[in-house]
Amino acid sequence: MSSKHDLDSEARAILSKNDRGGYTVPTARLYPYQWNWDSAFVALGFATFDVARAWRELELLAEGQWASGMIPHILFRQNDPDYFPGPTTWQTPDAEQGGGRMPTGGISQPPVYASIVRELYEQTGNDNKAQVLFDVAYRFNKWFIAERTAQDMNVIATVHPWETGRDNCPDWDGGLAGMDVDPELEHYTRKDTQHADASQRPSSEQYDKYISIVKYGRDTGWNQRTLTDSGPFLVADPGLHFMLLRANRDLLWLANTLGHSDDVRAEITDWIAAGESGAQELWNTDVQAFCAKDLRSGEFSDGFSNASALCFYAGVGTPEQQDATRLHIERIGKKAQFLLPSWDPDHASFEQQRYWKGPLWPQMNYIVAKGLAESGYNVLAERMRTDLAAVIKRSGFRECFDPMTGDGCIGTDFSWTAALWLAWASDSRYSNPKTKRAF
Ligand code: GLC
Repeated sequence: MSSKHDLDSEARAILSKNDRGGYTVPTARLYPYQWNWDSAFVALGFATFDVARAWRELELLAEGQWASGMIPHILFRQNDPDYFPGPTTWQTPDAEQGGGRMPTGGISQPPVYASIVRELYEQTGNDNKAQVLFDVAYRFNKWFIAERTAQDMNVIATVHPWETGRDNCPDWDGGLAGMDVDPELEHYTRKDTQHADASQRPSSEQYDKYISIVKYGRDTGWNQRTLTDSGPFLVADPGLHFMLLRANRDLLWLANTLGHSDDVRAEITDWIAAGESGAQELWNTDVQAFCAKDLRSGEFSDGFSNASALCFYAGVGTPEQQDATRLHIERIGKKAQFLLPSWDPDHASFEQQRYWKGPLWPQMNYIVAKGLAESGYNVLAERMRTDLAAVIKRSGFRECFDPMTGDGCIGTDFSWTAALWLAWASDSRYSNPKTKRAF
C-alpha cells in the first residue's frame, strides 16, 4: 500500500498527465475528450495546488457553450478515432454553437457548473473570474429549465441516459424498454469495449438504443425542444433535478455576493421555488424514496440510487422523506462494505461491478456527503469520505469501485477520482485544519 504522501503526489501527477493544455480528459483512450461534469469536479482538484489552472478548466469548458446556453456533455476539440460516438456521429450544427468553434455532443450533463464556480470563488475570492463565469452558469441553468422541463411539471427530465451522467443505471430501463431501435440505424463499431472489460460496460441492445436517440436528435438538427417533447425517451431524473436545484441555490448565492440586479435574483428565486415543488413529482411512495419517472408511461423506477440520496444536497424533502432516505443509506451501509453504491444492493438489478448498476462513484460520494453534512448527518458523511479514501488506497485512482469488495472498475488513472482525493478524501487534507472541508 502506498503512503499518504505518495497518493497525493500520484493524484497530482494523474491530473497533470490527463491535462491536454488547459482542459483535462477523464482518462486517456477510453474518454479522450473534455467532459462536462468531469471537468467541473476536476477544477476542485487543481484548486488544491494551482488555482489559476482550476479556473482555466472552467473557462475552457465554457468555450463549448452553445448560443442557447447549453454546455454539451462532450467537447470534441480534436477527432480521436479511438472514441465512438465521436463528432461525425453527433453532427451538431455550427450555428447552434455560437459561431461553431468546435464540434460537441448534442445533449448536456449534470449542471454542477454553478456550484463549482461558487466553491472556487469561496476559496479564492477572485471576483473577476466569478463574474465572467457567473454569466456562463446563469445561461446554462436557464437553458436546462427552458429545454428540459417536462410537461409543465417543474421537473427536470432527460432525453438520453448519457445526459444524466449515470449512463446505464437501472433508472433508465423502463424508458429504454418503451422505445424501439431505429430500423434505419447505421452500422457502427463500439470502442468502449475495446478499452474496458465488456462485463462492466452496457449491453449491445442498450447501446443500439443510445445511438437511436442520437440519430433522432441529429435528424431534428438538434432541436432540443423537439427532442424533449417528442423524442423516443423522456425520463424525469432525481440526479439532474437535484443537482440543478442545488446549482440554482449556489447561483443565487453568487448573484447576491457579486451584486447582481434584483431582476436576476428574482428570476433565480423563481427557478428555486419551481424546483422545490417539482421535486415532489419524484417521490415514489412504494419505495419511500425520490426515484426516476418515465414520463412517457408515467411509471416510476423502483429502486434507490445514489441520486435518490441527493435530496439533502438539493435541500428538499419533508422531514419524513429525508428520514426515509437516510434509513435507506443506513440499510445499504450495512450490506455494502463501502458507501454509497450507485444502485441498491437489495434490488434484483444490482450488479456490483457493472458501471452505474452498483459501483461507488467518487464524485457522487462527494456531493451526497456534502448534503448529508449540511443536514447534520456528519457520521454518515464522514463514512462516505473514509470509504472513498479506503477504496482509493486499496485499488488506486479508478473510475469507480465495487462497493462490496473495494476493487477498482473500468478506467484507470482517472481524473475525478484524483481530484476528489486531493480536494476532499485524502487523509492529509482532512487532518490539516486549514484544508479540511467543513462543507
Ligand atoms: C461515463 C460516465 C459519465 C462520465 C464519463 C466520462 O460515461 O457515466 O458520468 O462523465 O464517463 O468520465
